[in-house]
Amino acid sequence: MSRETPYSDEQLAAFGLQRARLPRHVAIIMDGNGRWAQQRGLPRIEGHRRGVTSVRETVEECSRLDLDQLTLYCFSSENWKRPPNELSFLMRLLKKYVVEERRRIRDQGLQFRVIGHTEQLHTDIRKEIAETIRESADNDGMTLCLALNYGARSEITHAVRQIAAQVQAGTLVPDDISEQTVADHLMTADMPDPDLVIRTASEMRVSNFLLWQISYSELWITDTFWPEFRREHLHEALRSYARRDRRFGGLSEPSAKPPLPALKHD
Ligand code: IPE
Ligand code: IPE
Ligand code: MG
Repeated sequence: MSRETPYSDEQLAAFGLQRARLPRHVAIIMDGNGRWAQQRGLPRIEGHRRGVTSVRETVEECSRLDLDQLTLYCFSSENWKRPPNELSFLMRLLKKYVVEERRRIRDQGLQFRVIGHTEQLHTDIRKEIAETIRESADNDGMTLCLALNYGARSEITHAVRQIAAQVQAGTLVPDDISEQTVADHLMTADMPDPDLVIRTASEMRVSNFLLWQISYSELWITDTFWPEFRREHLHEALRSYARRDRRFGGLSEPSAKPPLPALKHD
């Protein structure tokens, strides 16, 4: 398999999409694997297994759409609460994915990155992750970032600890701590913030995912379970994103409404 050419403007138009209105960074909370399996009378792990097909299709599609980054929430720092058999299956699946995906990552020219406390993962998995990161480091295509053993509160806590240590060492004064200082100490330091967050399986929550980084991200939630998520669902999310008016606290760009009249004080 060789690298698929990115979609032309005509192909994008056939999906109801426009290049200028695509997000640069999409982040996905891939949820509903267990429910998908349970609805079919299958063990929960079957949902995780099937979810890999959705991952492959989504990665390839985001790459063809020429996005800068796709971040996938694969395992949260709270997911250790799952039963031991589910955890061991997830860890084996993760290792298999990281190894088997190398060929596709190379063919698609992806840069493979990871955020999360990977130091708490098994040495075998860490070795394979490091190898996949190393092999893909010089690629110039989309960044594929996996959130593994990731939790935003823990990420922010670590950032605060590092900043506090610099203050204690006398290399930083509290007045010089800016939003950028905080952002620079997060695991996503050199990554753009997500423009669009997709969550499958209908939950209306963010489950400790990129809390700092999604301050102004657009949210799109679907009832579809992750193992059934296909590129048509992604296109639907992208069409919805294209219609959004991102104001960042200001006013709409093209037809900025006149400001509210000043309050009269008698
Ligand atoms: C998401 O699917 C995958 C992980 C959290 C690892 P779930 O396993 O959370 O599926 P549901 O939410 O129980 O259906
Ligand atoms: C979020 O899903 C984590 C991942 C998708 C990896 P969860 O299934 O863990 O979220 P909650 O428990 O429903 O909030
Ligand atoms: Mg879930």
